[in-house]
Amino acid sequence: MTSLFTPYFRKVPVAFILTFFFFSMMSITLKAQNKPKDETIKINEDCLKCHGQSKYKYNNPESGTEVTKRMYLETIINRTEFYESNHKTFKCTDCHSADYDTFPHPGRLRMESKYACIDCHGGDEAYAKFKFEDIETEFQSSVHSTKHSDDFNCWMCHNPHTYKINARSDEKIRDIVAYDNAICLNCHADITKYQMLTDKVNPNILQKHDWLPNQALHFKNVRCIECHARTNDSILVAHNIQPKAKAVRRCVECHSTNSILMASLYKYKVQEERSKAGFYNGVIMNEGYVIGANRNYYLGLISLIMFGCVAFGIAIHATLRIIKRKK
Ligand code: HEC
Ligand code: HEC
Ligand code: HEC
Ligand code: HEC
Ligand code: HEC
Ligand code: HEC
Ligand code: HEC
Repeated sequence: MTSLFTPYFRKVPVAFILTFFFFSMMSITLKAQNKPKDETIKINEDCLKCHGQSKYKYNNPESGTEVTKRMYLETIINRTEFYESNHKTFKCTDCHSADYDTFPHPGRLRMESKYACIDCHGGDEAYAKFKFEDIETEFQSSVHSTKHSDDFNCWMCHNPHTYKINARSDEKIRDIVAYDNAICLNCHADITKYQMLTDKVNPNILQKHDWLPNQALHFKNVRCIECHARTNDSILVAHNIQPKAKAVRRCVECHSTNSILMASLYKYKVQEERSKAGFYNGVIMNEGYVIGANRNYYLGLISLIMFGCVAFGIAIHATLRIIKRKK
């Protein structure tokens, strides 16, 4: 038996290391594109020298001294996160008024109107694959939008200084889940943020999902939007959040062969068949396998190979016996 397997075991890791290497190189080159220019980084430091950390300094001309003050938490921008975000190539003043270069900032700037996503991305061919117009329509009919009109806008979930695409670029389902759920929990687990929009008491999310067995595991493996948003074939990430009465509660919606997850969380992976490594391969190898979706790819492959070898062995054995018997 062992002699049958050894050649496979030797070949498989090499093939994988090579594939893995190839893909890592690809992702490195992809990431290397559109980096922020050094000049942009330098200009942004004019803002980030104050907004980049928890304290800032300015000269008080009245007393002639340098004053150190604490920066308000909400106005601190993390450099690393900003330069990893979708809009990393931007100057602060591409979105904010150039008049912010003076301090104290002129009071009227508080009233400055902000761009909406659609102002820049609407009707742009380069972003057609994201379907901004469709997302806009979906969002308009969501529970957030219908209950809160324009107070609730795209920036509420897409932090202007940190948002980056995940669902389309991240390899690990769990990372996507964590990133996307953090967006919702930003309000639904934070009473001060939630109450910026309503005077209602923020319902306790953990209590409200008591009925879900193994809640922690579910929240790590599925996104809030899987149960709370209506899927739309034409867009990758559903934006139409439904009222709570319409949320998915039935286990078989996910735990079945035609799991809704195939049309939502696993959609991109299934479309792209980028089944390199990791747990979503369980889905691709066997669509019905949601619970076992975190099966290890290598284990799956090795067991397939072992199965093949065994079948092969039996076939040879059988043929040999037939030949022997004929003799
Ligand atoms: C000397 C420190 C300092 C510098 C430099 C600075 N800011 Fe500020 N900024 C502050 C402080 C403090 C606040 C909060 C108080 C206020 O609103 O004036 C603030 C507030 C803001 C706000 C929020 C205003 C509001 O009320 O909504 C924006 C936007 C802003 N800054 C953008 C910028 C941009 C863009 C730059 C660079 C062109 C910049 N800032 C440079 C200290 C600074
Ligand atoms: C892609 C556009 C965009 C870029 C680039 C951008 N901002 Fe903003 N910024 C916004 C929007 C939109 C808001 C308002 C968010 C909201 O209302 O929720 C905002 C809010 C702010 C605030 C106020 C935060 C608050 O909650 O009160 C500060 C301070 C700020 N930006 C500073 C900066 C600095 C400094 C940079 C550069 C490092 C920068 N911004 C780059 C779009 C941008
Ligand atoms: C001021 C104009 C402007 C606004 C406002 C704006 N964007 Fe962008 N966005 C851009 C530009 C330009 C790029 C390309 C940046 C680059 O290639 O470095 C971009 C990149 C992106 C990307 C990445 C595209 C890719 O292929 O990697 C996404 C996703 C995105 N924006 C979503 C949004 C969303 C969501 C909003 C609103 C919450 C928004 N943008 C608001 C101009 C804008
Ligand atoms: C209730 C929260 C929420 C609101 C409001 C929201 N989004 Fe999103 N959006 C998300 C989440 C979560 C994702 C998934 C992020 C990821 O993992 O890439 C997403 C992803 C996206 C993407 C990337 C989709 C892709 O194909 O990769 C775009 C574009 C986008 N949103 C645009 C918008 C626009 C435009 C608005 C306003 C009309 C908006 N969003 C409002 C939560 C929200
Ligand atoms: C900016 C804060 C904020 C973010 C981010 C946010 N929500 Fe909400 N959400 C609210 C508020 C406020 C309400 C209450 C609306 C009302 O009834 O007035 C609400 C209501 C809801 C409801 C409806 C509950 C009902 O009474 O029917 C659901 C479901 C929901 N949110 C899910 C989500 C999901 C899923 C996400 C992430 C994709 C998300 N929310 C992101 C603030 C937020
Ligand atoms: C497995 C499906 C599922 C997942 C995952 C899920 N929910 Fe729910 N959620 C429900 C159902 C069903 C209800 C309705 C419960 C009820 O009627 O009491 C609900 C209720 C809610 C409510 C309304 C609470 C109230 O009574 O006002 C909010 C808000 C909410 N969920 C947010 C979230 C957020 C945020 C996440 C992600 C961290 C999430 N949900 C994940 C199915 C789910
Ligand atoms: C939104 C889709 C979804 C819904 C609805 C859902 N589940 Fe799950 N469930 C999952 C996913 C994804 C996993 C994690 C699979 C994995 O990685 O093993 C999981 C895991 C589980 C596990 C743990 C399995 C293990 O390997 O330990 C149990 C038990 C479970 N679900 C039962 C239920 C029950 C009972 C319900 C209905 C009350 C339900 N689920 C509703 C998607 C869902």
